[in-house]
Order: sequence, then C-alpha cells, then structure tokens
Amino acid sequence: MTAQVTTPAATAAHEGAEVLALEGVTKHFGAVAALTDIDLTVHRGEVLALVGDNGAGKSTLVKVLAGVHSADSGTITFEGRPVRITSPADAQELGIATVYQDLALCENLNVVENLFLGRELRPGRLDEVGMEIKAWELLRQLSAKIPTVRIPIASLSGGQRQTVAIARSLLGDPKVIILDEPTAALGVAQTAEVLNLVERLRENGHGVVMISHNMADVLAVADTVAVLRLGRNNGVFRVADVSAEDIIAAITGATDNAVTQRASKRTPTAPADHPASASSADGDGDAATSPETDPTPMTNEETRA
Ligand SMILES: Nc1ncnc2c1ncn2[C@@H]1O[C@H](COP(=O)(O)OP(=O)(O)OP(=O)(O)O)[C@@H](O)[C@H]1O
Ligand SMILES: [Mg+2]
Repeated sequence: MTAQVTTPAATAAHEGAEVLALEGVTKHFGAVAALTDIDLTVHRGEVLALVGDNGAGKSTLVKVLAGVHSADSGTITFEGRPVRITSPADAQELGIATVYQDLALCENLNVVENLFLGRELRPGRLDEVGMEIKAWELLRQLSAKIPTVRIPIASLSGGQRQTVAIARSLLGDPKVIILDEPTAALGVAQTAEVLNLVERLRENGHGVVMISHNMADVLAVADTVAVLRLGRNNGVFRVADVSAEDIIAAITGATDNAVTQRASKRTPTAPADHPASASSADGDGDAATSPETDPTPMTNEETRA
C-alpha cells in the first residue's frame, strides 16, 4: 500500500537546484526505529512541507539535519557532496538553520539583542549601530512588520516573534531553513503573516522545510509535501496535484481516509460480517504512534493531521 500512495516527486517543476538530499537515513533510539530508510530532497526556492502523525519521526528528522542527533546510517548530500552532520556547529557551517517551535528567544531582551545574542558584532565594544542596521536589513528581507527593533520580545505578537526567530536564523546566511510548526500557536492573521515570511524565504532562494500539522497551511504555501508515517517515507506529492484527503490518507496509512470511512459507514451495505472495522476505533489506541507496529495497517481511525 505504501508504494501505491507514493507518487513520483515531480522534480521537473523545480527551478532551483537540489541543495539537500537524504538517502536511506535511519535512526534508532534503542529498540525504537524513529527513522527507517528516509529519502528526501530539498531544492533552492522550494517549500517542502514535512507532515505526519504524532511520533512519525518529523522532529527526529529535523534533529538529524540540525546535528542534534546523528543518523545511524544513510547518506546526506549538501550542495552535491556527501556530508556528515555530527553537531549543531556542523549544520550551521553547512548552511542549515533550524527554528524550533519554542523559538528560544529572550523575553526581556529587545529584537536586536535577540538577533545577535551570542554573536554580537565586535564583542567587547558592541557595534550597536552596525547591529541595528543589520537587523533592519534582515527584517526588510522578510518584509517583516515590526515597528521598532528596540522593543522587547515580550511586547511582540506570536507572529512577530516567529519573524524575529526566522530573521535570527538568516544571520548565518543559510541555504536551508527548517521551521518546526511555525504557525502552531498563531491566530489567523498571524498565520498569514508567517506564511508570507515563508514565501519571502522561497523568493530569496532558500530551501525551506516546514513541519506542519495544518493542512490548510501546507496547501497554501508548500510546493511539495513529504509524508512520514511510523518513521518511514509514505509519499512525496506536488501540492498542485494533491488534495488534503490524499495527504491525510498517506498520513494515516489508509487509502480510505477517515472521511470516506465515515461516509461508507453511513451506507448500510455491509451487514455484520465486518466486526473488525466496527471495533477498530478503540482497542489499542496507541498503535498508530508506535514505530513497532505494522507499517501499513489497512484501517486507522486517527484523524489528527
Ligand atoms: N530522544 C529520544 N529517545 C527515545 N525515543 C525517542 C527520542 N526522540 C524521539 N523518540 C521516538 O521516536 C519516534 C519519533 O518521534 P518524533 O519526536 O520524531 O515524532 P514527531 O513526528 O516529531 O511527532 P510529534 O508530531 O508528536 O512531534 C517516537 O516513537 C518517539 O517516541
Ligand atoms: Mg515533533
């Protein structure tokens, strides 16, 4: 079933060159296979949405790319050459920046101070003017809506904070930017603001990997969607060719997604010869999140996406 869900990644539609490629990447935590044989390609000027249910391996994959975890096996190719990412410094040096969900900003410090925290220009004698100019430059690149760079983070909205965190990630001049659930905690207007930012990053030629649970955001901004399921690839789709239902089906591992299953239950065609489907909603409810379970169950009532 996995093979049928998978559609060919339409690379022809990408204008940008391949910047990052994973082949056969595997990562275990003890007996838990968090990632098995993952293939993934990111191009310049592409927004790749990484989706999957809880425990699918998204964060683990990001951490492998960010140098937090080392892959057990597999190949990572960056700008055409094989690389080893064994520390966050390795990732940074290559040009892979990660914006984690918690953003890691200091509430009491202002925008400039946050942007340059730990990498101030001319430590010892701070180049306040230089940092402020650079801060504006970064925010302008993102067409950011921040009134002043001397405002403490505590006074900014969620969307503005996300902007600051993304701007900070741009300081090292990365080629690839990974955003972990950038819109998860945001309202409608702020989400739109952050999606605009993601588009700016794409326009500026970055490869963007965006983890998201929100199908509307994925369809609104991504070019490509890669689905992880129980630590494995379960489809790569061009957003232009795919519906939310197709993506959800790949996420849950069912060709029949939760919506169509629900619809078919309402049609009284199959009498009592199908006890399994009638009781599948409960029982071992955690099965879908355990990498130890069968990777291609036929039914899955989980609707989280
Ligand atoms: N440090 C760790 N030690 C042991 N197991 C881990 C560790 N990190 C992740 N795992 C396991 O690896 C699997 C994948 O987890 P991961 O956090 O990557 O999933 P996810 O797709 O990010 O899920 P979510 O949507 O809930 O954030 C899970 O079974 C998880 O329990
Ligand atoms: Mg996660």
